[in-house]
Amino acid sequence: MALTYSPKIEMETPVEPSSEATAPAIPVFKPWIDEPEYDASRAALELGWLGMGSYVSQFEQAVQNYLGAADRFVAAVSTGHAALHLALLAAGVGPGDEVITPSFNNVTDFQAILATGAAPVFCDVDDATLCIDLEKAAPLITPQTKAVIVTDYACQLCDHARVAEFAKDHSLRVIHDAAHAFGSQYQGEPVGSFSDICIFSFDPVKTLTCIDGGLLILRTREELELVHEMRLAVMSQPSTLMYQNQRAWTYDVKQLGFRYHMANLHAAIGLAQLARMARITETRRAACRYYNEGLGDIPAVRLPQTDFADVTPFLYYVRVPEQQRDAFRAALRDRGVDTGIHWQPGHCFTLFRQCRRGDLSITESIGREIVSLPLHSAMNIGTLDRVIEAVRSFFQTAHE
Ligand SMILES: Cc1ncc(COP(=O)(O)O)c(C=O)c1O
Repeated sequence: MALTYSPKIEMETPVEPSSEATAPAIPVFKPWIDEPEYDASRAALELGWLGMGSYVSQFEQAVQNYLGAADRFVAAVSTGHAALHLALLAAGVGPGDEVITPSFNNVTDFQAILATGAAPVFCDVDDATLCIDLEKAAPLITPQTKAVIVTDYACQLCDHARVAEFAKDHSLRVIHDAAHAFGSQYQGEPVGSFSDICIFSFDPVKTLTCIDGGLLILRTREELELVHEMRLAVMSQPSTLMYQNQRAWTYDVKQLGFRYHMANLHAAIGLAQLARMARITETRRAACRYYNEGLGDIPAVRLPQTDFADVTPFLYYVRVPEQQRDAFRAALRDRGVDTGIHWQPGHCFTLFRQCRRGDLSITESIGREIVSLPLHSAMNIGTLDRVIEAVRSFFQTAHE
């Protein structure tokens, strides 16, 4: 079968050796760090202001421009987890409240809810998109429900128009966890530009990395000011001053806060990555399409049902029969192909076993079937072929 793989840009990494015995193992994630990031790091270090400073303000402005979200307010923080925690606090979530979240979600979402003093309530996901199933969320609502977290998964987006209606109908705040969706568009609108509160993660393996970083997109100046206070309220430094690489020596403390700010070095790396988003998007889309083409005729394997036209995919996953998953992963490992599991359902962790939940049958199946395959920016065709070949050969030999 002749597969088409045609990102319009050149792949940067050389084609790997074809012999599997000599080829290096293919990791699930591989950050794309190159000369622009090295140059940016040097410049940021040479500036001599290592904490939150001018690069952070530039990064926030650049992301806002990239998203075309002139009517929104942007605050960069240290991680996606910090962004989630502050988003929930800014939405007024606190002790005694409940927050509905998909159980099929990142652990940091559950931890952030707990950190506010509220309780997670676990909801199922849709079998096709792996994003929250709002039909199943409705019966979970009680007078304690304050907010719903909706997470875009891997290369799929939630039905955000429906999410907005749902939130309006039930007077809920929405925390849109778009950690996987930076660079994606929903109905022509950039993800980040339309939600109640949206958060991103720029951790080491994300589509865009700041090494570690996170970001909130907020609707109001009041929420922005609250987040500014909370992200550095241990010292209550005014952000406006720090954006000029300066600090105050006397200040007041008015607000519970955390050391959640982003540092200049991380913002500088984020800026370098942002300048390459078009290439990152194109090469990741091309790789995912190549996977879908190369794996589409294996009956036992379920693939993401998307043409990747609107998404900048963070992660490529397959669903395999649950009784074959361990053997499948071992066979790929033997051929030098690393795989991952995103995610184990939240309600299965010891810490969250007592949390209220609805029917989670789809989540439970997905949790037993899901496997992440390697996806990097600027992935070369030799690497993709090795992964496809490893998957095909597992299902061709004895296992199908
Ligand atoms: C969906 C989702 N939300 C939040 C996070 C947390 O981001 P961070 O690792 O930057 O804290 C992650 C991290 O993988 C994630 O996948």
